[in-house]
Amino acid sequence: MIYTVTLNPSLDRVIWVDEIKPDDSIRIKAEKHYAGGKGIDASRVVRTLGGDTTATGFLGSFTGLHLEGLLINEGVTCDFVKIANETRSNVIIFTQKSKEHIAFNSKGPEITPYDLATLFNKITNLASRPSFVLIAGSIPNSININIYAQLIHTLKSNGVKVALDADNEPLSLGVKAKPNLIKPNIYEFARLIGKKVETDQEILEAGKVFIEDGIEIIIVSMGAAGLIVFDKEKAYKIIPPKIEVNSTIGSGDSAMAAFLLGLEQGKPIDECGIMAAAAGAGTALTPGVDLVRKEDFNRLLKEVSCQPISL
Ligand SMILES: Nc1ncnc2c1ncn2[C@@H]1O[C@H](COP(=O)(O)OP(=O)(O)OP(=O)(O)O)[C@@H](O)[C@H]1O
Ligand SMILES: [Mg+2]
Repeated sequence: MIYTVTLNPSLDRVIWVDEIKPDDSIRIKAEKHYAGGKGIDASRVVRTLGGDTTATGFLGSFTGLHLEGLLINEGVTCDFVKIANETRSNVIIFTQKSKEHIAFNSKGPEITPYDLATLFNKITNLASRPSFVLIAGSIPNSININIYAQLIHTLKSNGVKVALDADNEPLSLGVKAKPNLIKPNIYEFARLIGKKVETDQEILEAGKVFIEDGIEIIIVSMGAAGLIVFDKEKAYKIIPPKIEVNSTIGSGDSAMAAFLLGLEQGKPIDECGIMAAAAGAGTALTPGVDLVRKEDFNRLLKEVSCQPISL
């Protein structure tokens, strides 16, 4: 089972219109609600690919329950802390004429010390033993920025493996607690090490420091260019096939989910990397905020290429 932590989930309201004309009334062509947030996306993909997953984080009030219902319908086990304040709702508008989107991201509810302590108690005493806990996404303003490091310490001292997908300070502070796995994209990786990286060798060189420090697996994802995955013994460059891209929203979360599922199934990191690239590309194929479909994943698996690179 893969357990995901999303501290600031969102009930995403996706709206499709022909075009946006200011000062005019705009007719909505279609609208749909989605359970959103990075860990939640990963849980949804784990389910699509046939794995077991439980999602935690904070959910509150009407939008929180709506989000939970959506996840239950998809077969994700929910283990959220219920809070008094209302879960945020982000609005994403897709314009069909110009094929653009505008996203309005809300800050999210205040998390009280009581809420935070409840989550910590839950995570310290997990009922079932996950193969991995994935901590992903942004941290609500009312929580200390060091929270990911604290969660990683707690989980690791209980013998639970942890993957971290974050950016900026949540990533750099989280890395100090030595999660078992990190998956920055190339820009997040550059911010983590404080300089731009261009070649595969530069990525491996910079990543080695973290591996020597105790992080076991590093995946650096690079959009259409694929990903590099390495541990202390091996490194691979994984390249997805050229596809007709619809929307890459959620590609990284899908790649993360598939990689962890591969590890849970006992696969080596090159095969996990191939699964990650197929899931990420599958999500890029689907429109809007939709995530990978199982049939696309199965087909793309055979089209991903993998080559070893020397460490
Ligand atoms: N345009 C694309 N064509 C093919 N594969 C893609 C494309 N975009 C992403 N992928 C696949 O998905 C993986 C993850 O994508 P990406 O590097 O964009 O993650 P990310 O920046 O973390 O995304 P997110 O916004 O979901 O956090 C890539 O390594 C690649 O294998
Ligand atoms: Mg990402």
